[in-house]
Amino acid sequence: MKQIKIGLLGFGTVGQAVYKLLTENAENIAERTGFLPVIEKVLVRDLKKKRSLSIDSKLLTTDPKDILENKEISIVCELMGGIKPAEEYILSALERGKVVVTANKALLSEKGEKVFSLVNERRLYLGFEASVGGGIPIIKTMKEALVGNKIKRIVGIVNGTTNYILTQMLEKGMDFAKALRLAQEKGFAEADPSLDLKGIDSAHKLSLLASLAFNFFIPFDRVYVEGIDKIELIDLEFARQFGYVIKLLAIAKEDKGKYEIMVHPALIPEKHILTSVRFNYNAFYIQGDFVGDILLYGLGAGGAPTASAVGE
Ligand SMILES: NC(=O)c1ccc[n+]([C@@H]2O[C@H](COP(=O)([O-])OP(=O)(O)OC[C@H]3O[C@@H](n4cnc5c(N)ncnc54)[C@H](OP(=O)(O)O)[C@@H]3O)[C@@H](O)[C@H]2O)c1
Repeated sequence: MKQIKIGLLGFGTVGQAVYKLLTENAENIAERTGFLPVIEKVLVRDLKKKRSLSIDSKLLTTDPKDILENKEISIVCELMGGIKPAEEYILSALERGKVVVTANKALLSEKGEKVFSLVNERRLYLGFEASVGGGIPIIKTMKEALVGNKIKRIVGIVNGTTNYILTQMLEKGMDFAKALRLAQEKGFAEADPSLDLKGIDSAHKLSLLASLAFNFFIPFDRVYVEGIDKIELIDLEFARQFGYVIKLLAIAKEDKGKYEIMVHPALIPEKHILTSVRFNYNAFYIQGDFVGDILLYGLGAGGAPTASAVGE
């Protein structure tokens, strides 16, 4: 059986879940692809950090060259996050002809032009399924399954933290602060949740989706963004009296060559299918000119679902 050697940049929530997936499911992957995945090296910042997953300490390194300049490694998974030095490492791996897989929506939507140009010019492979929608295969759907369609509209609930908070407020009558605290206790919200609450995480994801839908790069700073940080319980209650539910929506639409790309809280009719997307679930409602309407639904974040998408 031919082995395929993989380097992981990062061993946090997603990195550890990817390690688990590639070791536990190695034989299944080998049967399905003809290649046995072998993790060769794992880059971290701190070798002494206590980690919930135990790993052979010989695999860990703090030197990115052990992965980027290792000729045996043909796939590099960037699971560090942030712009610097992730961008430099991704470009370096691509320039060496390695396949790169990343979950880093912030980097791709803010600085993606350079990375995507290199990939297109040199016909390289950059997998970024894990950067949008966690385990939901939205990127492959857009790039492959729907390639025959002109995409007219995408309406997504693309951030689990905000959807969890809004669901708790609506269904349990909790105020915003209490619902946020609960989301943090359950691990659905970061200690600093501002990227989620202000809609920035959703806008990062929408920038990538809209770029795929409309065939040109739409950077993050062209997306209109409004979060849920000003939503109060009373807003949800008023909306309900009129037959609506408030959700944070990521919307990309095209009409006669004009594009609207925006993230904002929106009123949706109680009977609309997107109202059944509750708690930390995500969904993408897509309209194509031939396929009509389709809906993809699943867990949009967390180690295991995101690792599933890295495994693309
Ligand atoms: N968590 C999710 O549910 C989720 C879902 C979808 C996408 N993502 C994306 O996945 C990526 C990783 O997220 P995460 O939640 O797994 O992050 P995380 O738990 O903070 O893990 C980051 C890992 O990268 C390592 N690292 C960071 N900077 C480094 C540097 N300069 N040099 C070497 N190692 C470095 C850290 O090393 P140490 O362990 O030594 O500190 C850590 O192992 C991000 O781009 C995020 O947006 C996450």
